[in-house]
Amino acid sequence: MNAPAVNRQWILARRPEGAVRPSDFRYQEAPVPAPAEGEVLVRTLYFGYDASQRIWLTEDGGYMPPVQIGEPMRTMGIGQVIASRDSAYAAGDLVEGFMSWQDCVLARADGPMPLRVLPKAQYPLSWNLGIFGVSGLTAYFGSTDGLKVKPGDVVVVSAATGATGSLVGGICKALGAKTVIAVAGGADKCRWVIESAGYDAAIDYKSEDIGQRLDELCPQGVDAYFDNVGGHMLDTLLLHMAPRGRILICGAMSSGYTDVKLKGPSNYMRICTHMLTVQGILLFFYRDRLAEGAAQLARWVAEGLLHVEQHVVEGFQRAPELLPTMFTGKSPGKLLLHVADPA
Ligand SMILES: NC(=O)c1ccc[n+]([C@@H]2O[C@H](COP(=O)([O-])OP(=O)(O)OC[C@H]3O[C@@H](n4cnc5c(N)ncnc54)[C@H](OP(=O)(O)O)[C@@H]3O)[C@@H](O)[C@H]2O)c1
Repeated sequence: MNAPAVNRQWILARRPEGAVRPSDFRYQEAPVPAPAEGEVLVRTLYFGYDASQRIWLTEDGGYMPPVQIGEPMRTMGIGQVIASRDSAYAAGDLVEGFMSWQDCVLARADGPMPLRVLPKAQYPLSWNLGIFGVSGLTAYFGSTDGLKVKPGDVVVVSAATGATGSLVGGICKALGAKTVIAVAGGADKCRWVIESAGYDAAIDYKSEDIGQRLDELCPQGVDAYFDNVGGHMLDTLLLHMAPRGRILICGAMSSGYTDVKLKGPSNYMRICTHMLTVQGILLFFYRDRLAEGAAQLARWVAEGLLHVEQHVVEGFQRAPELLPTMFTGKSPGKLLLHVADPA
């Protein structure tokens, strides 16, 4: 694959206040860089969208350094190696990992998650950002190693139509869970999780009383809660956990991620009185087990146990306009931007 004549970029123009807006980014063109020793030059093909990108735009940055004003916006991406000065990568390799909103990125293997060389596979390349990327692997390790879902469990999953949550239902059923309950916004999404994503029941958090519905659906309590939302929803779930229940803190969508400092739940003492286990997850901790997770997910897909949903938008120019939709309502599954095809 040849390098393009210019390197199109979307850079951070100003740090967003509150909700992120497309106008927080600015388009520019720059020369295509040359890789130094230990670096790889990658042509970007797909950008994946993750709510955590909003955290990287705060002054603090959260669990990664903040994106600086003037820098191309960081993203998870799929690309093809154009030139390599690292013996672990060869020109032509298809890779997945941290990239940024530009045609060509320079990458190094010494970051928190080095670029993964993608295996030749039967499935679409873009799945490496969804089911075989951060979303699916977080769903997998969160349900197995984190929540330790086992046969007979009653599991609740919030943000259940999201890229992660849309896979957690099927994974928990594959692990033998008795009942998997989705929490999603709106009647259409609640229907979708049951018809397409393997859930047994759904609660519409926008129009229903979550506590009342949990009393109806699982009067004995919730054994495992996969929490993507935090805030008021986590507080409600704390009141409905079974003794010795497990909670996985995967994300805090309700915060909008405009600040890294969040208030904890007020029903905190339930953790004590019900002997609950609360655990977090960050995929970086599983960096040596990614292939194992992807292999199990692939087996479940082949067995028809998992449904893969993605929404692919076309065109580099649209990169900034998609980011706010993570918080304002998006289609079920993984949101991706397709920017180029491999050679
Ligand atoms: N810890 C990790 O390593 C890791 C990895 C991946 C993802 N995550 C976290 O997992 C969560 C989900 O990410 P994702 O990529 O799976 O989802 P996604 O595809 O970005 O979708 C986000 C979902 O959140 C829901 N949502 C948005 N605002 C909400 C609110 N105020 N209350 C309740 N639901 C809300 C939306 O559904 P509705 O239309 O139903 O509101 C939407 O389906 C995020 O918090 C993300 O940061 C963590």
